[in-house]
Amino acid sequence: MSEDRYLTFALGKGRLANQTLDLFEKIGITCEEIRDKNTRKLIFVNEELKLRFFLAKGPDVPTYVEYGAADIGIVGKDTILEEGRNIYEVFDLGFGKCRMCICGPESARDLLMHHEQIRVATKYPKIAKDYFYNKKHQTVEIIKLNGSIELAPIVGLSEVICDIVETGTTLRENGLTVLEEVCPLSARVVVNQVSMKMENERITKLIRDLKHIL
Ligand code: PRP
Repeated sequence: MSEDRYLTFALGKGRLANQTLDLFEKIGITCEEIRDKNTRKLIFVNEELKLRFFLAKGPDVPTYVEYGAADIGIVGKDTILEEGRNIYEVFDLGFGKCRMCICGPESARDLLMHHEQIRVATKYPKIAKDYFYNKKHQTVEIIKLNGSIELAPIVGLSEVICDIVETGTTLRENGLTVLEEVCPLSARVVVNQVSMKMENERITKLIRDLKHIL
């Protein structure tokens, strides 16, 4: 495809975006403006390299990539699994490492073991459903929440939660523990299926450069 076409990156806002920008700088891809916390601009361009960047809410990144509004996205594996979009996951960046776990008070361990009909609070209903229904063959009631998931078992909304554990501090400080591990997570590079063919050379070079420095 023409070198004049911009290659567009969608980056999940927050910690992952900063680490991604650090990594890109190491392979010569820079975009200073995007780091300015005071800017209200939504799209950032590197004219020299014909690259465009934008920041989006994590769960929206796979959507932009599936529809081709972005050629490439950087997003957590948790979001990829939850959104279930038609995109290629091409590379594990190895940072943003954490785990999706079933957590709760120690007393909930028995309920899980005996396949009791329990309630599971989570920001990730699809991942939780897949884990309990398809892997464990256990019927549970899944309750969707939007944050501070650890509250649910403390105030009696659910017996357990399905949530991300990074350092384990949030669990520890709230008297909860990891009861089962669902899967490991980290930041991934995802690519639009058409872009993968049309922009194969540029995308392959990007992945090669990333592999080289990691
Ligand atoms: C995430 C996750 C846990 C916490 C885990 O929440 O949902 O609550 O981080 O981290 P830790 O193991 O290092 O304590 P996040 O900060 O994204 O906010 P949220 O509660 O609004 O989802």
